[in-house]
Amino acid sequence: MFMRRRGTAEKTAMIIAIDGPAGAGKSTVARKLAQKLGMDYLDTGAMYRALTLEALRKRVDLDDALTLSRLAADMELGTVYVPGKRPPYRVLLGGEDVTVAVRSREVSAQVSKVSAHAEVRAELVRKQRAMAEGRDMVVEGRDVGTVVFPDAPVKFFVTASVAERAQRRHRAMLRDGYEVSLEAVRREVVRRDRLDSTRVVNPLRRAPDAEMVDTTGKSVAQVVNGLARRVREKLEEAAGRR
Ligand code: DC
Repeated sequence: MFMRRRGTAEKTAMIIAIDGPAGAGKSTVARKLAQKLGMDYLDTGAMYRALTLEALRKRVDLDDALTLSRLAADMELGTVYVPGKRPPYRVLLGGEDVTVAVRSREVSAQVSKVSAHAEVRAELVRKQRAMAEGRDMVVEGRDVGTVVFPDAPVKFFVTASVAERAQRRHRAMLRDGYEVSLEAVRREVVRRDRLDSTRVVNPLRRAPDAEMVDTTGKSVAQVVNGLARRVREKLEEAAGRR
């Protein structure tokens, strides 16, 4: 979710939008890019996940858009950076560390349903804009460049092959202690792609002005360095036009 870096000087706020499908390596590169550029970081997916967790705990009907959007409005979200913890960006829900819980299979299986409601999206988009207000921020998600910040000066659409995305997610899940087969993860990746890109409200799609970044076969460092270079070039181009 939101991570403010200490000691960053106030300057004109700038948003870097990073969208793409699940498992493309988007979160890893978004965090590292934010660190490299000294910018804040917002993981919008974690917000949809935290809401799903809260709804499951409170036994809210996941088809009840109005109750879900009220829950979203009342939810107290935050993050804290804990160096040495894996991952260091911890997700807080009402002060409780739910970093692991929001990645559970149950939440992963239900989050598409929760995030498909227009009322829920309207509430979380409002929160996302409020969190980014006046800040330089790398914001990652599915609809950041298209809906949340359509005027962001720099947009990337990060993707990778289905096989590679399934392998990465599988490794991450095993590392987090979830026993699951590669084939089950692959099926889940395909299923979520379909749900995310065919939903009626704010579907996953590349903004016309977003640069396509294919991470298949590339290291994290290669991708992050490439993105940082493109950000600098784009900012220089924009400054040249002024
Ligand atoms: O990136 P992730 O896997 O943590 O995202 C979790 C879910 O939330 C995913 O199914 C898509 C949804 N999502 C969304 O609809 N809009 C966003 N901006 C971010 C995530």
